[in-house]
Amino acid sequence: MPITYILGIESSCDETAAAVVRSGEQIVSNVVASQVATHQPFGGVVPELASREHLRAIVPVVRKALADANQTYESIDAIAVTQGPGLAGALLVGISYAKGLSFALNKPLIAVNHLEGHIHAVLLEERQRGNHEVRFPVLALVVSGGHTHLYLAQESNGIWSYRNIGHTRDDAAGEAFDKVAKLLGYGYPGGPIIDRLAPHGDPSVVKFPPSQLKHPDRKDKDRLSDEPRFDFSYSGIKTAVLRYVEVHEMRAGIQARQSALANITKPKLEDYLAHSDKRTLDLVASFQRSMVEDLIGKTLNAVEATNAQTLFVTGGVAANQELRKSFEQAAPSAGVNVFFPSRPLSTDNAAMIAAAAYPKFLAKHFAAGDFSAEAGLRLQ
Ligand code: KG4
Ligand code: ZN
Repeated sequence: MPITYILGIESSCDETAAAVVRSGEQIVSNVVASQVATHQPFGGVVPELASREHLRAIVPVVRKALADANQTYESIDAIAVTQGPGLAGALLVGISYAKGLSFALNKPLIAVNHLEGHIHAVLLEERQRGNHEVRFPVLALVVSGGHTHLYLAQESNGIWSYRNIGHTRDDAAGEAFDKVAKLLGYGYPGGPIIDRLAPHGDPSVVKFPPSQLKHPDRKDKDRLSDEPRFDFSYSGIKTAVLRYVEVHEMRAGIQARQSALANITKPKLEDYLAHSDKRTLDLVASFQRSMVEDLIGKTLNAVEATNAQTLFVTGGVAANQELRKSFEQAAPSAGVNVFFPSRPLSTDNAAMIAAAAYPKFLAKHFAAGDFSAEAGLRLQ
């Protein structure tokens, strides 16, 4: 097989990213320009600002990815770009630029589903380590700021296909981390802050009732009759945290923390800890424990029901240390091997997009010239 260099471009949310991946298994360069500082004052991603920042960053980010890889526009073999799901305006920046490059350079263009990218982040790193064996079916938990999805994946002639067997009915897990962190005055994005604060609290202090989904999701397009579903729900726990804050009159403390942290340019763990009382730390630890237990419980039930041989846990929340540790502890008794991406590859990046494009490149599954962004693109 000739060596292939694919340039990946990702702009679905708040990171502008470009990467070069060799033959689907070696990251040659990986550049991510984060917009966190832009969105931080608003406590979440502002779509209009995201598009503007992507426009600003896309050319230098792609240029740097090529330079870091010792490649040129002419030397790459194909261009891969995220088609969706994501913010339409943000996606369009990457897609328009990728289309322009493909047209000007006369190179094939490959459209990639962002969620397939997250799944291939795991595969890419395993291949990079020399592990080419994957036992199917693979169950993939994609858990990020916008998604909490369970996919059962099969492979045929190198092309993966996916069946959704579970999704969140309301908030995504990462969204719950972000909302709870914001609610407690810690700022955005909250997942990484909660991750670092949780070990300093007692996770057994606050008991959250387990999320209960009594009825099938009538709007669920993926649902086959009789097939067991493994849906998630995280808006309840967010409300429970809010109620706890009110019952324990924590408002004044939260406001004081918010103002104190706003005056620190890049708060460190010590700064967060200096402005956290024991009750808040216990609440943070209990919230994270409850999230982790729910994600693991449902995922392992799905492993058992589908007889999955391999488990991938990927997406921004897969960077969470307690989640990783708990999955690693629980997987052997569930009879499944669990794999995660490294922390930098858990969150949004373009190496995963270039890697997911490689089998499509080999199969000549190229994008039509008129393809466009699909904010709600489904993975199949
Ligand atoms: O995959 P990603 O970069 O973007 C989306 O596709 O959404 O995921 C971002 C999400 C955010 O909600 C962020 O708070 C969460 O992943 N996240 C974490 C951690 N690192 C990022 N959540 C929990 N623990 C972490 N260490
Ligand atoms: Zn993502």
